[in-house]
Amino acid sequence: YRSQDPRLHAIKNRIRVVPDFPKPGIMFQDITTLLLDPKAFKDTIDLFVERYKGKNISIVAGIEARGFIFGPPIALAIGAKFVPLRKPKKLPGKVISQEYILEYGRDCLEMHVGGVEHGERALVVDDLVATGGTLCAAMDLLERVGAEIVECACVIELPELKGRERLNGKPLFVLVECFEC
Ligand code: PRP
Ligand code: MG
Repeated sequence: YRSQDPRLHAIKNRIRVVPDFPKPGIMFQDITTLLLDPKAFKDTIDLFVERYKGKNISIVAGIEARGFIFGPPIALAIGAKFVPLRKPKKLPGKVISQEYILEYGRDCLEMHVGGVEHGERALVVDDLVATGGTLCAAMDLLERVGAEIVECACVIELPELKGRERLNGKPLFVLVECFEC
């Protein structure tokens, strides 16, 4: 049972909660403090790798910006390609786009077409799930090019924002939950 894994306690303790950033009322989950602890950062990656290695996943899709921190080490360790899902107008090739509503604002994700084969098994990686809008947009992009979503994986979940319920039944795996955030 994963909550008994002794590594999770240290990971949670290394996430700094910053009240009223970037706006009043937002409890910002700062993972830069986790990254400063090499053991806790490595444990974070290892916990995902232990779950996903041997699962025939050929794509790890990471969401700009903070999904770019956790996605690539997972991709390398499980032998998958890394596909960046970027904010608008950053990718030079032919892209598909998906707009979404964020906890604080509206945004859009883009993905290069051509990097994903029909039927490939994809893992979506981000740092945090709040309302779930970002993960939904990411899954939409991958499904539009024929990928099969295996799971979404995040370090942190804010359960009170009910992002999990928004994922259309797609599985979500998180390491730590933060209530009253
Ligand atoms: C944050 C966070 C997730 C997203 C979660 O990203 O990193 O990607 O919000 O929110 P949601 O579940 O309500 O969609 P953000 O776009 O704020 O900035 P970033 O570029 O620093 O990752
Ligand atoms: Mg983000």
